Parts: sequence; structure tokens; C-alpha cells
Amino acid sequence: MPDSIQIRCLQTIGDREIQGLSDVLIDCVEGGASVSFMFPMTRTKAEAFWHSAAASVERGERVVLVAEDAAGTIVGTVQVILSQPENQPHRGDVAKMLVHRRARRQGIGAALLAAAERSALESGKTLLVLDTASGDAERFMYAKAGSAVGKFRNTR
Ligand SMILES: CC(C)(COP(=O)(O)OP(=O)(O)OC[C@H]1O[C@@H](n2cnc3c(N)ncnc32)[C@H](O)[C@@H]1OP(=O)(O)O)[C@@H](O)C(=O)NCCC(=O)NCCS
Repeated sequence: MPDSIQIRCLQTIGDREIQGLSDVLIDCVEGGASVSFMFPMTRTKAEAFWHSAAASVERGERVVLVAEDAAGTIVGTVQVILSQPENQPHRGDVAKMLVHRRARRQGIGAALLAAAERSALESGKTLLVLDTASGDAERFMYAKAGSAVGKFRNTR
């Protein structure tokens, strides 16, 4: 990954982050990513999603990580859902792993995944679950996942 890219864990998600995260989400959906949205993908839908994620971060239910370039522009993101059923407190779900098409194939996805693993471990999680409908994403996750946290499995 280029040195100019920094991975950051968002403690709060303000307007600037909502805009940057929405840009990445819209680009990925327009590029065909299967991440729970259908066409037409609008900014309103994207912003509503990130506002809801922001509230969830504040409740401590999830972690949102971002990759930012030297100008501070968000080029990628991933989430770890911490809030789980009471019989699976050790589990975290990797969700909405997104890298803007113009920033792909530089190792940003792999770096986000490694950071998600570290965050999960810090939160006491020993199993990371990936819920994806995308064969590419599944292959990517299995290939890149480190050994820090249990095993990834696809839930579909
Ligand atoms: C899946 C996704 C997050 C990967 O992001 P990325 O930043 O391109 O990931 P990486 O750069 O770490 O790795 C992607 C590929 O680039 C290659 N790569 C990494 N650095 C490279 C470099 N410097 N030069 C050339 N290739 C490179 C990797 O080896 C990998 O190749 P592979 O797929 O053949 O193994 C991205 O494609 C994406 O956002 N997809 C749409 C959304 C999606 O489906 N998300 C998953 C749902 S949970």
C-alpha cells in the first residue's frame, strides 16, 4: 500500500466523513458491488446509511475504519459489527468492505482487513465472520485474512 494512505478508526462520524464514505459507497455500488443496495444508487440512500452507521458507532455496536489519502480523502472503508447475539459474544462480522475503484489493487483492501482484524481482537473477538454474496470478495477475504483472529466463513 502507498505510504500516503493512512488507516484510521473513526470514533465519531461527522459530515465530512459522511460525504467521503458516501462517495466510496456510491462508486462501489455503481461498479456492481453487491453490498445491500439496488440501482438507482442515490446520495440520499448513501448518506442515510452512513448516518445510521454513525449512530451505531456511538452506541458502541460497530467499528468503522477508513483509508485516507494524503489529502484526507476517504478512499476505502470496512466495518466490524461488534454487537452479536448473547450466545456468540466472541464473534465479529466484517461488513461493507469498500475501496473506491480508482484506488483498487494497491493493497488498501488488504490493509483495511488487517486493521479490522486488529480492532476485532482489541474488542475481544476471536471469530470474524464475513457475510458476502460476492465470490470475488470471499476469495479476497480468505486469501488476505491473517491468523490473528479465528477463521473467516461465508454465511450464505
Ligand atoms: C474487494 C475490495 C475491497 C478489494 O480492495 P483492493 O484495495 O483492490 O484490495 P487489494 O489491493 O488489497 O487487493 C486486490 C488485488 O490487488 C492486488 N494488488 C495489491 N497490491 C498491488 C499492487 N501494488 N500492484 C498490483 N496488484 C496489487 C492484490 O494481490 C489483489 O489481487 P488478487 O485479487 O488477484 O488477489 C474491492 O475490490 C472492492 O471494494 N470491491 C467492491 C466491494 C465489495 O465487493 N466488497 C466486499 C463486500 S464485503
